[in-house]
Amino acid sequence: MDFEKARADFPILKSVVYLDSAATSLTPEPVLAKTLEYYREYRANIHRGAHRLAERATNEYEEVYDKLARFFGGSAKDYFHTKNATEAINLVALGLDWKKGANVVTTAIEHHSNFLPWMRLAERSVIEELRVVKPISAVGSFSLDDFASTIDSKTQLVAITGASNVLGNRLPVQQITKLAHERGALVLLDAAQMAGHFPTDFASLGVDFAAFSGHKMLAPTGTGVLYHSGKFKFQSPMLGGGMVRAVSLDNYELMPAPAGEEAGTPNISGVIGMGAALDYLTKVGVAGIEERERKLAGSMLAGLCDAGAQVYGPLDVSQKTGVVSFNLKGIEAHKVALMADELSRVCIRSGHHCAMPLHALLGAKGSARASAHFYNNEADVKTFVEAIGKIAQIA
Ligand SMILES: Cc1ncc(COP(=O)(O)O)c(C=O)c1O
Repeated sequence: MDFEKARADFPILKSVVYLDSAATSLTPEPVLAKTLEYYREYRANIHRGAHRLAERATNEYEEVYDKLARFFGGSAKDYFHTKNATEAINLVALGLDWKKGANVVTTAIEHHSNFLPWMRLAERSVIEELRVVKPISAVGSFSLDDFASTIDSKTQLVAITGASNVLGNRLPVQQITKLAHERGALVLLDAAQMAGHFPTDFASLGVDFAAFSGHKMLAPTGTGVLYHSGKFKFQSPMLGGGMVRAVSLDNYELMPAPAGEEAGTPNISGVIGMGAALDYLTKVGVAGIEERERKLAGSMLAGLCDAGAQVYGPLDVSQKTGVVSFNLKGIEAHKVALMADELSRVCIRSGHHCAMPLHALLGAKGSARASAHFYNNEADVKTFVEAIGKIAQIA
């Protein structure tokens, strides 16, 4: 699909320069149409009714498991729907059968959603310890030796991001997974900034769990996914209707995965919309998206450096996603974002981006963050860079 032509599917782009896709992506018209189609043509609950609307809704919903498996590897039963990446991570925290004396290993660059659930487990003595591996450089690179010396036979889970939502760098997930597995630990991958941005196959990465948000990959809000490799037993801690085969006064039998993992009525329209988002991303081509984001990141980095900004994360674009965080001397990040909007209708994010420990390591209270998706172009970047240049001069 032609990237420039695809921009027409995102009407919001007519009114603003949207560079906040790491927070949530825009939604293209075909995804909106598919979501609405559910409400207009076959709105019904799934798995519960015998009538034609219920049957169509169930089929459309269930097809999305196959689409997920085609897009991210593994098989359809390895996926279940959540409301976002955060919920998916929490389900692992609450659902794993924690062994006595177990520890969890994570990194200092994680989003709070992949940090707080493990802190809570340690605080409540469910696990013995949360161990945090720090990057060896300000651009967020890690030493595999640090993982090797931190993960031990008591490590039950290694929970790492695949791509930082602040630094825009990528982690060597496959190597870390290999180290973890050699020591008997499971791996949870926070794929929130990977999904839809570059080719990602959870089965070939070898991870045991992966969590991501549909709303960051063109799907409606309120959608997320937990991937759970079929290699070991895991059950969602949530129980209720929609997942049982039989219940008596003193017993219950759950349906097989994935239906047996999803308690209650899910976000049916959102999930069906996510199926359309996966179709759309497949048409666009995720390898092309990766390349386009890299080029846009390169142009943003060059422009920001010219404007005298302090840039966080790697400058080498071969290491980059479309996420670029920065600060301007003498001016608060929130003010930079406000001014970028006022001056040029450029929408960027500011603050700590739910990564306060990382910002503490960077010695910054917060940062401004521009994050591109394939629907951005060089003209967007030019407007952004010019706005930042003007703000830097005023500051
Ligand atoms: C790396 C990373 N993990 C987790 C999340 C949480 O995503 P959600 O708010 O959709 O649960 C985000 C959101 O920004 C993220 O960037």
